[in-house]
Amino acid sequence: SFTPRVFSGIQPSGDLHLGNYLGAMKRFVDMQETGIETVYCMVDMHAITVWQDPEKLRHATRELCAGFIAAGIDPAKSILFNQSQVPEHAQLAWIFNCVARMGWMQRMTQWKDKAGKNAQNASLGLFAYPALMAADILVYHATHVPVGEDQKQHLELTRDIATKFNHDYGADFFPITEPVIEGAATRVMSFRDGSKKMSKSDPSDASRINMTDDSDTIAKKIRKAKTDPEGLPSEAEGLEGRPEARNLVNIYAALADTSVDAVLKDVGGKQFSEFKPILSELAVEKLAPISGEMARLMQDTSEIDKILDHGAERARAIASPILKKTYEIVGM
Ligand code: ADP
Ligand code: NA
Repeated sequence: SFTPRVFSGIQPSGDLHLGNYLGAMKRFVDMQETGIETVYCMVDMHAITVWQDPEKLRHATRELCAGFIAAGIDPAKSILFNQSQVPEHAQLAWIFNCVARMGWMQRMTQWKDKAGKNAQNASLGLFAYPALMAADILVYHATHVPVGEDQKQHLELTRDIATKFNHDYGADFFPITEPVIEGAATRVMSFRDGSKKMSKSDPSDASRINMTDDSDTIAKKIRKAKTDPEGLPSEAEGLEGRPEARNLVNIYAALADTSVDAVLKDVGGKQFSEFKPILSELAVEKLAPISGEMARLMQDTSEIDKILDHGAERARAIASPILKKTYEIVGM
């Protein structure tokens, strides 16, 4: 009985890369084009669960917004905004802090990974992060959330919070949100080590293509990407046990909006020395306009700020009545 609505967020925590583009933004654009209502958020309140330099955070938030728009998010079609500008997220998060149990939070693998052995020194916010994420989603009554593998457990917790709230207050109020899981094909791996995700936290800049890289840098990074001595197989099975080779073919398929099998039909039998320039050409064709548009938007940030203000207004128009009703249900 809930109107379909998609929510997703990305932290403004620094350099955007090809993994963020193919694994998140490009999927968000595809969902926007289906006509379902799409709500996309820069989650700066999540970013500060670990200390951020204020100027860098401000810059990263605008750059993330520029990235969304350059990747094809249309602020007239999708609601695009910054989390801290919509106070309903924090307000609902407090209620969810009172619904969620300590034990649930302690079981989160990301908490265990991030806090590590020094949990006593982690921020309370880092511990409570999944309750804020639940509020991000449920303050819009979002029915679907595109998530990566690493966020699956947090979405499970969001469903637990919704279920417990509905049960505790005898109200069928929050939807039980469905994950839209990214396929293996949209997981982009490091150019240096095919067993690791492409990530901004990798110290090697050669391990990833940044969304702000120019054409020469993109071509150079692909030329230097690790492969194995074999050529390209003519079928997907031939990529098994060859993570670096598979990664480059996956990237080609994702950028070309086609399947791995279709790519191998064309390039099977070639050496990587022949395939890499073909991949480079496609990557530059798809990504150079994005980095160009990001640079243009970042020159005068008043356009971005206007888009974010407008997005926050639209977000509040949905979130505010849902929060109001939540308060009523709780007795506040
Ligand atoms: P990072 O891993 O660089 O820290 P984030 O964790 O901020 O990036 O991820 C932001 C979004 O981008 C998430 O939706 C995440 O699933 C997606 N994402 C990040 N890295 C990759 C990758 N290598 N392949 C596919 N998707 C990715
Ligand atoms: Na992550």
